[in-house]
Amino acid sequence: MQKQNYEKPTIVRHTVGLANKFGRSPSAIPFTQVEGIAIKPLLEKFGSPLYIVSERTLRKKYKELYRSFSLRYPKVQISYSYKTNYLSAICATLNKEGAFAEVVSGFEYKIAKSLNIPGNKIIFNGPHKTKEELLIAVSENAIINIDSYDEIYLLEEIAKQLNKKISVGIRLNFEIGTQHWDRFGFNFESGQAFEVAKRIVVGNQLLLKGIHCHAGTYIDTVETYKLLAEKFVYFYQIIKDALDVKLEYWDIGGGFASINTLHSAWLPGNQTCPTFDQYAEAICPILMNGPFKPDETPILFMEHGRAIVDEAMHLVSTVVSQKRFANGGKSYNIDAGVNLLFSSYWYKYEIQPIQDNGATIEDVTIYGPLCMQIDCVKSFTSLPPLRRGDAVIIKNVGAYNLSQSMQFIQLRPSIVMISENGVHLIREKENFEYVKQLDKIPEHLK
Ligand SMILES: Cc1ncc(COP(=O)(O)O)c(C=O)c1O
Repeated sequence: MQKQNYEKPTIVRHTVGLANKFGRSPSAIPFTQVEGIAIKPLLEKFGSPLYIVSERTLRKKYKELYRSFSLRYPKVQISYSYKTNYLSAICATLNKEGAFAEVVSGFEYKIAKSLNIPGNKIIFNGPHKTKEELLIAVSENAIINIDSYDEIYLLEEIAKQLNKKISVGIRLNFEIGTQHWDRFGFNFESGQAFEVAKRIVVGNQLLLKGIHCHAGTYIDTVETYKLLAEKFVYFYQIIKDALDVKLEYWDIGGGFASINTLHSAWLPGNQTCPTFDQYAEAICPILMNGPFKPDETPILFMEHGRAIVDEAMHLVSTVVSQKRFANGGKSYNIDAGVNLLFSSYWYKYEIQPIQDNGATIEDVTIYGPLCMQIDCVKSFTSLPPLRRGDAVIIKNVGAYNLSQSMQFIQLRPSIVMISENGVHLIREKENFEYVKQLDKIPEHLK
């Protein structure tokens, strides 16, 4: 009989009043600090609600992603998806790490330029690019991925106007999984992608240098990316053989999942979502089998947002009141709602008190400050009893919440960044004058 391995005993301190051998429920454990900085004084200084960004986490996520891919593919360039969160301090941090900017509108292009990012480090995607915006992007040598036939036409006009050939990429969409995002670019399976490649080559004004596909978001299976990589290789082979195209880059878009948990998920996201290594292991070996000689290896662009920035930002919010439903259930109103947490429609956010409210937990629903029934941050979550003035932290809210936030009956709050050298206010809270400054009252209504 085999002897069992020795295992060191674990001593867990029981919490009085709870028959729970693991101690407190995680949602009752006070979360008092971010990166060693106490949250309460931050709230007192900058007001509630308050977004808190961790510079260290941001850099860490970027480095982890880069490492996983550059271990397996020799020419990797991450570009950060600005739409996910275009706070200047966040974009600047990632730029310092080496990220390009991936923008999907003229407005986002301007944000990148305002951070002194040169055109050749900006990837310009998106379904709506005006001729003026394209002219600037072309003159600054931005990497432009074409979304439609109309864009081909516009770019050919610009090429004639400037009397130069313009390098471009094309956006493609593939049938590769549950999310088939077919509104962007040209479809592969129907043959449209090939027709477009041929149209560009025959048009003789544009140089086809890249292919791009952003397949969806929160794609929590590596199988989708395997298929995408296979179809990239296949498509490259076709356009190489038929049109003599030599690609300088292929861009697999964004879409990796973050550790947040979807409402539809049974297990927590941090247990089910692939790691960067797993994504890289699925994608890179397939791309490395592409039809290119070693010295012609295309750059592998990626445009992640969610997977880099979600974990780097939290939102702290204060309880303003509590209520009982008619059925006896309990709810809290806090001062941040779906105006600042749009993604609470998809995610079961992790919420913890920032002060010690004891170990007993109860099921509650958390509503925001908006005068709308749908302003629900989380239904049936477990929390210890809270009082008016207590605060909670809603964790990992970095992706999409700020860029999709709305100024609906409430103003947007301050945002601080915790860096190695201290706490920085990276965005002032909005005020009445700021919001109203663009309004004009016609003379007859004054
Ligand atoms: C073209 C493009 N690239 C990248 C992204 C970033 O996606 P994610 O945040 O899922 O990584 C998006 C977001 O939808 C996008 O539209």
